[in-house]
Amino acid sequence: MKKILDLISQEASAAFEACGYDGSYGKTGISNRPDLCEYQCNGAMAAKKKYQKAPIEIANEVVEKLADNPMFERAEAVNPGFINLRLSGSYLAGYLDEMAADADLSFPKAEQQKTIIIDYGGANVAKPLHVGHLRSAIIGESVKRICRFAGHKVIGDVHLGDWGLQMGLIITEVRHRSPQLPYFDPDFEGEYPKEAPFTISELEEIYPTASAKSKEDEAYKNEALEATAMLQDGDRGCRALWQHILNVSIADLKKNYSNLNVEFDLWKKESDAQPYIPDMVDYMKREGYAYQDQGALIVDIKEDTDTKEVPPCMILKTDGAALYTTTDLATIIDRVETYDPDEIIYVVDKRQEMHFTQVFRCARKTKLVKEDMDLKFLGFGTMNGKDGKPFKTREGGVMRLENLIAEIEEEMYKKIMENHEADPEEARRTAKLVGLSAIKYGDLSNQASKDYVFDVDKFTSFEGNTGPYILYTIVRIKSILNKYLERTGLAREHLPSSILPPANESEKALMLELVKFNSVMEQAAEELAPHKICSFIYDLSNALNRFYHETKILAQEDKAQQAGWIALLELTRRVLETSIDILGFEAPERM
Ligand code: ARG
Repeated sequence: MKKILDLISQEASAAFEACGYDGSYGKTGISNRPDLCEYQCNGAMAAKKKYQKAPIEIANEVVEKLADNPMFERAEAVNPGFINLRLSGSYLAGYLDEMAADADLSFPKAEQQKTIIIDYGGANVAKPLHVGHLRSAIIGESVKRICRFAGHKVIGDVHLGDWGLQMGLIITEVRHRSPQLPYFDPDFEGEYPKEAPFTISELEEIYPTASAKSKEDEAYKNEALEATAMLQDGDRGCRALWQHILNVSIADLKKNYSNLNVEFDLWKKESDAQPYIPDMVDYMKREGYAYQDQGALIVDIKEDTDTKEVPPCMILKTDGAALYTTTDLATIIDRVETYDPDEIIYVVDKRQEMHFTQVFRCARKTKLVKEDMDLKFLGFGTMNGKDGKPFKTREGGVMRLENLIAEIEEEMYKKIMENHEADPEEARRTAKLVGLSAIKYGDLSNQASKDYVFDVDKFTSFEGNTGPYILYTIVRIKSILNKYLERTGLAREHLPSSILPPANESEKALMLELVKFNSVMEQAAEELAPHKICSFIYDLSNALNRFYHETKILAQEDKAQQAGWIALLELTRRVLETSIDILGFEAPERM
C-alpha cells in the first residue's frame, strides 16, 4: 500500500497537470504548521520562475481543481502561494481500514530481497558482559529486526572475541593456581577431563586477576603472551583448556543475551576465521597488494580524497602474528564463501571507526568482496552516567550487565507495587518486561552515533519519552479492549474492525499519526535508524492518550460509534506492539 504522502502528492500533481503545469510541483509534505493545515504543498512557489506567474495565482488554480476531490476536506491557497490541505475523514478512515486488513500494516516489503549479515554483540569470551556491550546488542538486535521487517534475509552473528591475549592470560592464571592439571603436561597423551576446571564465577574472577597481574609483572605477561602463541599454534593442552573456557563462557553469554531478548542466528568466533588467514596472506602477496614494510606485512589503502591520514592496513606484525584487522578480513572471506551476502553491517563502538575504514578499504582493494557488496559501519556513541563520564557502578567500577538489569528490574518492581496491589509473582514478571523496555528504549530513542546519558530515574518513569510510558499506553488500550469484550461477550477474533471517519479533533490527530507508520518504517530501514521508530511511537502514544482523555469510549451509547473507536484502538495497539517488537521488547497484559 502506498504511503499517504505519495497518494496526496499524486492527487496534487494531477491537479497541477490539469492546470497545464508540470506534475512534479505537486510534491506534498506534512505541514509544519499543524494549526493551519495537515499537509502542505509548496509547488506553486517553485513553479513561479518557469511559468512567470504569481505563485498565488497558480495555487488558486490548483486548489480549484482539488476542490471536489473526495480525498480532501479542504484545499486552500494562502499567500504567497502555499497550498494547504486537510484530508477528509472518510478518506482517512478508508486508508486505515486497508492498513488494518494488511498483516504488515501497509508496509510494503522490499522489491529486491537482500541477504544481510549483521555483526553485533561482539562480546569477548571469559570477560563479563558489561554495559559497553549493551549498546551493540540492543541496537544490533533492532537493526536486525528492522531489516527483517523490510523483507530481507538477515543473519545475525555475535562474532565473539575468543582469540586474543585474554585467552593466554586465563590459561596462565589457571596454570599458576593448578599446575598439576594435565593441560600443562607436555607429555600427557590421554584424554583431557570433560569437566571444566572452573565455574563461570571463577572464570570471571580469573580474568581480571590475571589482567592486573600482567600489568605489574613482566614475567607473568610474557608467560601469557607465550600461552597465547601456543594456543594459536595449536598446542593440545592449551586448545583443550580454551575449549572449556568457551563452553563455560558461551553458556553464560547465551543466558545473558536471552534476558535481553537478543537472539543470534550464528555464534561464530574470531577463531573460526583463523583457518582462512594463511591462504589470504599468500593471495595478497601474490597479487602484489601486500608488501613487507619494516618487517610487517601491509596493504596501502590511502585515497587521494583523504582529508586525514589513513594508516596502511597491517596484515601481519613483525613477528608474523595476525591482528584484529587480519581476523576481520578473514571473517569477510568466510562470510562471502558461506552466505554470499549483499551487505554486512557492523554495529560496533564508533571508536573503532578507523579500524573498519581500514578493513573495508583493504577488502575492496584486494577484491575480497564483489564491487556491489555493501560494507556498512554503524558506530555507536558511549553510554555515560549522569556525571557525563562512561557509566560506572556507584563504587566507580565497571558495571556488569546482569547487575544493571537487576537494578532496573528492582526499581520497576517497586513502582508497580506502589501503583496498585499486585500479585508479587506477576509483578516480578511485569517488572522484567517493563525494565527491559526502560533500558532498550532509553538507548534506542537516541541517534545511535551520539553519546547518551543512562539516567535510571528518567528511563524508568511512566511519564515522558520512555519505554514504560509506551508500555503503559499499550496496556491502557488492552484494558479497554478487554472490558469491551467482557461487556459485549464478543470473542477476541470478532473485535470490530471497521474504522469510522473521526468524530472529533483528537481522534483525527490520532488517525493522522497512524497513517505515518509505513513511511516511518521505510525511513528507519533505509537509514538503519531505530530512533525514528521511537519518536513515532512516542507521538502516537501521546495522540492516543489525548484521544482517550477526551472521549468516553466505554460509556458511549451509540454502539456503531463505539465499535468504530474500538477498531481504531485495536489498530493503534497493533501498530504500537509491532513497533516495539521491532525495537526488541514487549508489553505485559497489565501494569
Ligand atoms: N570483540 C570486539 C570488542 O569488544 C567487538 C567485535 C566487533 N566486530 C568485529 N567484527 N570486529 O571490541
